[in-house]
Amino acid sequence: MATVFVPKELQADETRVAATPETVKRMVKLGLEVTVQKDAGLASHLLDSDFEAEGARIVNDAAAGYAAADLVLKVNPPTEQEVAQLKRGALLISFVWSVQNPQLAKAIADAGLSCIAMEAIPRITRAQKLDALSSQANLAGYKAAVMAADALDRVMPMMVTPAGTLKPAKVVVMGAGVAGLQAIATAKRLGAIVEATDIRPEVKEQVESLGGKFIETVEAAGEGGYAKELTEEQKKKQQEIIEGHLVAADVVICTALIPGRPAPRLVPAHVVEKMRPGAVIVDLAVSQGGNCELSEPGVVKKHGVTIIGHPNVPAMLSTDASNMYARNLLALVMDLVDRESKQLKLDLEDEVVDKSLIIQDGKIRHERTQEAVSKLEASPAS
Ligand code: NAI
Repeated sequence: MATVFVPKELQADETRVAATPETVKRMVKLGLEVTVQKDAGLASHLLDSDFEAEGARIVNDAAAGYAAADLVLKVNPPTEQEVAQLKRGALLISFVWSVQNPQLAKAIADAGLSCIAMEAIPRITRAQKLDALSSQANLAGYKAAVMAADALDRVMPMMVTPAGTLKPAKVVVMGAGVAGLQAIATAKRLGAIVEATDIRPEVKEQVESLGGKFIETVEAAGEGGYAKELTEEQKKKQQEIIEGHLVAADVVICTALIPGRPAPRLVPAHVVEKMRPGAVIVDLAVSQGGNCELSEPGVVKKHGVTIIGHPNVPAMLSTDASNMYARNLLALVMDLVDRESKQLKLDLEDEVVDKSLIIQDGKIRHERTQEAVSKLEASPAS
């Protein structure tokens, strides 16, 4: 029988946990032995007694949990100290951001572990249930619109009152992927007039079906449903078209991303300067450098414009974020457990496992992670 360990997350702004009593119950039913660190679910309002009631064992000490585990379920990348506590041959499932974090990838490999990186789950139809990037981005898109409404100096919907009619706020959403579409839907529900832009032409229909107006700029669709980086000429053209919309906006929600690349710069400083004081920008891409030139982690005010750049928005919705993330992991674990032996079995013929198992028994098998690690080894000081 394989043993699963769910530690308490160490990152300061984290409120999520990688399992809930609901998913523990299902894992126990699968024949797994589940251990949860004391208070692991507290920030998501899940009590140790709730986990125990569904068959989990609570341990005080993370080191003991790690040392006994065949499978560790986490939200954030482990620290190197946590990696050192896992036993050789164990499987870690977590967000790892291994391409951006080669030092950690190397530590995981050197420790002889296997690792499924949640950011590497392919965005294919069959893997939708396991797609934690999408489940968390969906929540972030919703919260971005709500944060914008909260910070704005005017109301979102049109209001007809005895004191006059208030115009609806104008919202522009940059990037209409998972987070962007949810931001559009939420801003519409709040009564705003919503425009959105993207460089993948196929999203026009999705934006319009949510009641948004699509701003056509340039086209650069890449592989796997993702965008390609724009040429300098395309960037210039996009800027020319988009600038007027941005300057007229009360709210700009930035969600544009090309995987593994710095965030595309879509809202330069001179545009922020031209926006009206009191306007709000929410930049979800802040961790990748921001779509807005002036965004920083946290909240800043520049030229009278409030710029919100929280790096961990899903953690603001701990209950739903933990529930969705834990269900994503459960769906994955159900595919990994051999029903007869109750042991973990990694089937490399399965596209999901093949793409997301970035390290197997100490060997890095994810090309872009290997490239990043080789680069690190070639210049260890940088
Ligand atoms: P996604 O890949 O589903 O969507 C990104 C969209 O941006 C795609 O539709 C793509 O075509 C578009 N795009 C790329 N380059 C563009 C350009 N130059 N102009 C216009 N559109 C462009 O990504 P998802 O999951 O929606 O995430 C969006 C962003 O939000 C990412 O940067 C992600 O890291 C971030 N995020 C941040 C969170 C936070 O807590 N701050 C939480 C979740 C996601």
